Amino acid sequence: MKLITFLLVLTLTACVNQTQKTLYEQLGGKDKITQIVENFIYEIEFNETIYEYFKETDIQRFHDKLIEHICVNTGGPCQYTGDTMAQVHAGMNINESDFNLTVDLLINAMTKADIPHPLQNKVLAVFAPMRKDMIYK
Ligand code: HEM
Repeated sequence: MKLITFLLVLTLTACVNQTQKTLYEQLGGKDKITQIVENFIYEIEFNETIYEYFKETDIQRFHDKLIEHICVNTGGPCQYTGDTMAQVHAGMNINESDFNLTVDLLINAMTKADIPHPLQNKVLAVFAPMRKDMIYK
């Protein structure tokens, strides 16, 4: 096989493998998701508006359930043992602006965990459709 053909095959194989990887694997698995969630909790603690929602929350539970939730929804080998998004956020009456602000905090958390922007967008695309279960409930 000519060198150029060999290199082409190598590149194509790498591309195919990349698209076959789950989002969970592309992110870097459980360790990276844990890092994102811990950064996110830090962001929440320092944001007065969003912290207001969390002031009575058991943060250890939130930490554990959010890791499971992100793991499952990005195709990872986990089980989600928390409540549904509708149940959890019912009664909070989250408005669009606070929802968007929370998304900004998640973006900060991912940036601080060195997640590249195209990958961040894939994560946001997974969670964006859940918005309807959370706002004005
Ligand atoms: C796509 C966006 C979101 C996702 C994926 C998400 C996911 C979760 C998960 C997995 C839990 C833990 C569930 C459990 O304990 O069983 C949780 C709890 C919670 N979420 Fe969200 N959430 C989102 C947006 C928001 C927003 C925008 C707010 C408020 C501004 C919010 C406020 C809360 C609070 C306060 C709790 C703790 C509830 C408690 O103390 O029992 N979430 N969320």
